Amino acid sequence: MNKNTISFLHHNKLININFDEVAYRPSTTVLNYLRQQPAFRGTKEGCAEGDCGACTVVLAELDEQGGLRYKAVDSCLLFLPALHGKQLITVENLSQQKTISIAIAPCTAGNG
Ligand code: FES
Repeated sequence: MNKNTISFLHHNKLININFDEVAYRPSTTVLNYLRQQPAFRGTKEGCAEGDCGACTVVLAELDEQGGLRYKAVDSCLLFLPALHGKQLITVENLSQQKTISIAIAPCTAGNG
């Protein structure tokens, strides 16, 4: 894995994005990434300025005790590299409760 690659969990899958090989750029917002995925268009764009919350997603990351810390974020303000080593939880995950608690260790291994 090189420095132009990010890895994160989304919908029970480890997603690897190599910016050298895909159309996405490091400046692509998480919202625009999601809106380009036909199965994940539940996250909506409203203001695109961080004011309305229509684009809210949740990021899960490991805390110091090895548990998960959840944080709601505006995906219109978040660039793809911010997903590295985390779990992206979108509205599509709400009907699959077990996916919210899966471990994110595999995508953080070796990335300090
Ligand atoms: S689209 Fe309004 S906060 Fe992101």
